[in-house]
Amino acid sequence: MNFDLQNGGVADCAAQAFDAMILLQSSQVPQLEGPLGALLKELHTAGEPGKKAGKLVQMYRPAAVASRRLLVASTGDVSPREVRQAVQAAVNAIKAMPSVKKIALCFSGAPTPAALRAAVAGVSEASYVYTATKSKADGRHLTHAKLYAPGSQADRSAHQSAVAQAVAQNAGVELAMEWGNRPANHATPAHLAQVAKGLAKNAKISCEVLGPKQIAKLKMGSFLAVAQGAHTEPRFIVLKYNGAAKTQAPVVLVGKGITFDTGGISIKPAAEMDEMKFDMCGAASVLGVFQSLATLQPKVNVVGLIPSCENMPDGKALKPGDVVTSMSGQTIEVLNTDAEGRLILCDALTYAERFKPAAVVDIATLTGACVIALGNVRSGLFSSSDALAQALQQAGDAALDLCWRMPLDDDYAEGLKSNFADVANVGGRAGGAITAAKFLQRFAAKFDWAHLDIAGTAWKSGAAKGSTGRPVPLLLEYVLSQAGTVPPASPARATASPRKAAARARSKA
Ligand code: BES
Ligand code: MN
Ligand code: ZN
Repeated sequence: MNFDLQNGGVADCAAQAFDAMILLQSSQVPQLEGPLGALLKELHTAGEPGKKAGKLVQMYRPAAVASRRLLVASTGDVSPREVRQAVQAAVNAIKAMPSVKKIALCFSGAPTPAALRAAVAGVSEASYVYTATKSKADGRHLTHAKLYAPGSQADRSAHQSAVAQAVAQNAGVELAMEWGNRPANHATPAHLAQVAKGLAKNAKISCEVLGPKQIAKLKMGSFLAVAQGAHTEPRFIVLKYNGAAKTQAPVVLVGKGITFDTGGISIKPAAEMDEMKFDMCGAASVLGVFQSLATLQPKVNVVGLIPSCENMPDGKALKPGDVVTSMSGQTIEVLNTDAEGRLILCDALTYAERFKPAAVVDIATLTGACVIALGNVRSGLFSSSDALAQALQQAGDAALDLCWRMPLDDDYAEGLKSNFADVANVGGRAGGAITAAKFLQRFAAKFDWAHLDIAGTAWKSGAAKGSTGRPVPLLLEYVLSQAGTVPPASPARATASPRKAAARARSKA
């Protein structure tokens, strides 16, 4: 998907021929001369397309515009969220039409950088099409989107930055969606490691992949205990993005990479078990962030850690009651083999200590309880640091990828007491998302730490079943805020087209 940014407004957009023109219409009607002005006034008088964001009017070959189709989409009060909603509605209406390849978007009023960003994200997310395991790939028809935004020189550079960041974010979101969607037999730990290796083709990214023997050497007894029931080998993936001085402490992102979660011996019911292919969405979000970093090249250091394996029932599988020794030395009584995410993450958290991190954020489809608590709207945020929690919450707000802070009172850890080990891996049904976080916190005492439970937000169920790519936008925004710069970093890139900037970043790699 290619994006271009054009200095111009509704009239400029209407003068050019595209397969479809999308006019993002606020309650204010643009004052235009000629047939387009008349058409928009008439629509307004008729109360079309309505005030609610996402309402649409579609026209074919209206005389007033050069494009074949005109879609007028209501943006309500023009908040970034509403802009995204309007763009998604418009793109959903045309994305299945093979003849619509190039679209243009313009705004009835001058857009803010945040609105532009939201529009780019909306186009990308709505136009993504999964094809990897279909025999007749009917892929994405939409290949080009041109955004019209009028403004002064200063506005233009803000617009360029916003679009460049959004384009890079999209690349990350789409990578996360794609790998989240691929079924477990097409997305094994080894496949994820290959994706990471591919990212390391970028000059600023390096990657190391550890197999079972090396993982054993590190004494990751808890991670290996989960992996031992599977025939597919585990991988521990270490990605590094070096954008700042070596002396600068990195942000470490830890992604849960369970490529399939049967529950193990504590097996899950059959209904919807297929959705447990999405149990690696935390890992996919880390890969996605690195994809975005490769394009944006911000001045920050980031480490990505991905423990990845399947959770299977087997003659060799971990059994309820087994006690395992984690890399930290703490012993864990595994009362439920379905609480496997925390068992692989705890060793990755211990591994993170060696980087003397500025902050560690783990991302995991960790608990069904978090879905009950927060639904599919906000990810659960847990943190031992108020500053880190605030930074993540703000990043989520700015990127339209929301989270909500949850408590970590020590009383919640009561249920994790064990008669046979230092800690048990489950603590009863009540407050299940919090007890899971309390378990992880035991392994995160040596740095500022936050945990994002994305069980409700990483994918959608039902007819629209599929990965969402969340929380790549939140994580990327947070990482960029740590770089203290809003990309593109160099003035040279600020004046170039975002597409060219991205291409240049790629070719440098
Ligand atoms: N991957 C699941 C969490 C999950 C469940 C995500 C449903 C999305 C939808 C995780 O490994 C798990 O099975 N957690 C258990 C924990 C329980 C055994 C304490 C759960 O949530 O049921
Ligand atoms: Mn599980
Ligand atoms: Zn799981």
